[in-house]
Amino acid sequence: MSVNRQWILSDAPVERMPVPENFVLNEAPVPVPGPGQALVRTVYISLDPYQWGYKVRGLEKPGDLIHARTVVKVIESNTDAFKVGDFVHCTNGWQEYGLIGEGIPDHPYMKTRVIDPALGPVSTALGVLGMNGLTAYAGLFVQCRPQPGETVVVSAATGGVGQIVGQIARVHGCRAVGIVSTEEKMRVAREEFGYDAVVSHLSDTLDADLEAVCPEGVDVYYENVGGKSFDATARLFNQKARMVICGLIGERPGGSSAKGKEALLARSADLRAAREVEVAELSVGNFVDSHFDEFLERMSEWYRAGKVVYREDIRPGIERAPEYYADMMAGGNLGKTLVKVSDE
Ligand SMILES: NC(=O)c1ccc[n+]([C@@H]2O[C@H](COP(=O)([O-])OP(=O)(O)OC[C@H]3O[C@@H](n4cnc5c(N)ncnc54)[C@H](OP(=O)(O)O)[C@@H]3O)[C@@H](O)[C@H]2O)c1
Repeated sequence: MSVNRQWILSDAPVERMPVPENFVLNEAPVPVPGPGQALVRTVYISLDPYQWGYKVRGLEKPGDLIHARTVVKVIESNTDAFKVGDFVHCTNGWQEYGLIGEGIPDHPYMKTRVIDPALGPVSTALGVLGMNGLTAYAGLFVQCRPQPGETVVVSAATGGVGQIVGQIARVHGCRAVGIVSTEEKMRVAREEFGYDAVVSHLSDTLDADLEAVCPEGVDVYYENVGGKSFDATARLFNQKARMVICGLIGERPGGSSAKGKEALLARSADLRAAREVEVAELSVGNFVDSHFDEFLERMSEWYRAGKVVYREDIRPGIERAPEYYADMMAGGNLGKTLVKVSDE
């Protein structure tokens, strides 16, 4: 344990999609915990599309550690807040070791917290029982208010967020329709996540395919992608349909960028006005204080009862993180993408 391998942002241009030149592998000394601090070892790194948005928007600068949510294990501690052996959710980024505790700034809403391992495998704190789960829960239930029997369409339906949206819509008594890319994702969406119907945005007949599986129109659209998926769904909106823009990965890089939203809203303005479609924009950080506890209680119950299952795409080795990241951004992941950095 002498070296802390970490990935930092290079000064190469940040374009639409990540390339290997954007990342530099650095070897730093393992930090020494001061009073009130704990030394942690990274176990899982969460790879998420929003993280590219940080770079696109200049929130991360060349030389900065690549930001990421992580599950870490406490290996040395000078504080009662974190005991050796505790698993902790925090934003330790793309590195093998780090410090938490006094004097270490916390993310405004991706808070450092000790994970309760009784709730499920600790990796779920990055997914179904963490930010992805809350994103699904708040966007669907709080912002779209679906009624049992309504048709809910979800894009990127097998991804970290999408897989949960479809399942909790069904738990609520809705009909869930997924939009994904490949045959394999279509199969998993139907067989593992229980979607009532699934279509592929790679199909030349996407509009007709979606119409055929939404005979009663679309009441709720959970948007992760934009692009063709949005256009195919918007045609089918029922009167007073509700849509939440969670992300627009197919429209602009890094998910929910302002320009992507403008473009999407502009080309649907007439249709939305005529059908009185309500559009909400989702920023999960706005729901942490108000809904995290309620979400965790309900989602853990569904998870324990097997009503919500969860698929992870776990890739080994921090040295390959940039490659995994680019693959996830290109749709190569099936489920929530995590890098396994060390054994639990
Ligand atoms: N608003 C918020 O607070 C918030 C929070 C978390 C996530 N998000 C957003 O939610 C969305 C999903 O995030 P996630 O973490 O769950 O990622 P994810 O769905 O696990 O991974 C991204 C998926 O997007 C799809 N995709 C990628 N490029 C595409 C393209 N050009 N056209 C169509 N689909 C494409 C791929 O699925 P297919 O192969 O099926 O196309 C890919 O697997 C992202 O847009 C993200 O920015 C927003």
